[in-house]
Amino acid sequence: MTSNYLHNFQQKEIEMTKHKKNCGAVILAAGKGTRMHSPLPKVLHELLGEPMLKLVTSALYPLFENNIWTIVGHKAELVKEQMDGQPVSFVLQSEQLGTGHAFKCACPSMAEAKLDYALIANGDVPLLETGTMQSFMDKSLEENADIAFLTLTLEDPAAFGRVLRKNGKVSAIIEAKDYSPALHGPEPKEINAGIYFINLKKIVPLLDKIGNTNKSGEYYITDLIGLSVAENLNVLGVNLDSDPSLLGVNNTMELVEAEEELRRRLVKKWQQSGVIIRNPDAVRIGPKVILEAGAEITGPCELYGTTHISASTRIESHCWINDTSIAEGCHVRSFCHFDSAKVASRCTLGPYARLRPGAELLEEAHIGNFVEMKKATLGEGAKANHLSYLGDTEVGPGANIGAGTITCNYDGVNKHKTVIGPSAFIGSNTALVAPVTIGEKALVAAGSVITKDVPENTLGVGRARQVNLPRREKTQQKK
Ligand code: UD1
Ligand code: MG
Repeated sequence: MTSNYLHNFQQKEIEMTKHKKNCGAVILAAGKGTRMHSPLPKVLHELLGEPMLKLVTSALYPLFENNIWTIVGHKAELVKEQMDGQPVSFVLQSEQLGTGHAFKCACPSMAEAKLDYALIANGDVPLLETGTMQSFMDKSLEENADIAFLTLTLEDPAAFGRVLRKNGKVSAIIEAKDYSPALHGPEPKEINAGIYFINLKKIVPLLDKIGNTNKSGEYYITDLIGLSVAENLNVLGVNLDSDPSLLGVNNTMELVEAEEELRRRLVKKWQQSGVIIRNPDAVRIGPKVILEAGAEITGPCELYGTTHISASTRIESHCWINDTSIAEGCHVRSFCHFDSAKVASRCTLGPYARLRPGAELLEEAHIGNFVEMKKATLGEGAKANHLSYLGDTEVGPGANIGAGTITCNYDGVNKHKTVIGPSAFIGSNTALVAPVTIGEKALVAAGSVITKDVPENTLGVGRARQVNLPRREKTQQKK
């Protein structure tokens, strides 16, 4: 796993300690997610720019490292492709016959790895926390449970599996569709969160006893509870009240609710670490983003991917920033849009600046309103303050790019480079037709179309010379 995926949104810093026992983890992610009504597999839907399956994997990684098996099925190739770089092994469930069947698919791999215990997690519980999983496993081991699972108490048990207890002891989980008050009694408010910890030797043999004679015609993993009770095994339901980090996502409303919960959690985490976040309810920060203490952000604002904002940098409202690092002491004015760019210290940007992939500003550079940069470097102290496009361009230190300068980098087939030397001055409304080089301290006259290199210290003029002609006699006005 790439280390930047390690949960920086965890409340507690979790040491990379593999769990004491010989444990593996299985993530169930083969389902379609019918209730999302989406062509995208459910587990690839994103929260703050990260697919929920990556979030689940990241939460489990500190505990299991490479002992993680992800069950894929629906659009398996797409899911694997999106999980590229994740430290998991994939197991194919070619037909989605239910969660019990999905887990069974992982059993041969777990046997081969000679594991004693497995944590099984639904892939649609994106807010899962490493610390919660650690305590759950500790408790299960302390109590010597053969099968343990996490439960929540909800006012509305919705479509979750209902937990049945007799004299406080768990007796079964009954899925919402199959629940009948006549048969099972009044509806309990305790529901199954879809996270299980099992003793493999004791529980795997029960998988063959799971049937599919239920309303969905599926093999439910939840049937393991009733089967274990019948076998007098030690079954433990661990109730975590209404912990929102365990809520499963099954439809688009739940996706957005979970995302909002994650958003609040991350904003709070960064506020507590010394980042000044104004209008915090309108600030969205992705889980991989890093903010240094003393950075200042005003909402509405969105920061995603591997964005890094350094100390004493100020981001004003209405900015969208992805995979971009901004060093200390910068001022990003409102309405900027940055993607995959790099900004050195003490730069000023915007309002309304756009940095596209490969844009780089060196120390104390300025870009102003309606300036777009793509694969372009603006040298130290260089300025492009108004209405310009710099693509495939290198601008030297101290250069000044006048309003309305366009680097014409594309000839319809290929992209070409523009080089602007140190302290060069490009007059307003200039088209630099690449490939072209403007030398050090060269001056380009306003309104030029420059198709040939301008040597250093010279003036390049590429426009028709102005002529002033005598005015014609006014034609006689008609009466
Ligand atoms: C499941 C539980 C329910 C619990 C809820 C918690 C079952 C039968 N029910 O219901 O008791 O309250 O989670 O969120 O387990 N999957 C596969 N292969 C399949 C079917 C599903 O890998 O054949 C995966 C899905 O991709 C998903 C996970 O298993 O990530 C859970 O499936 P889902 O259909 O969401 O189950 P729920 O109805 O939410
Ligand atoms: Mg679910």
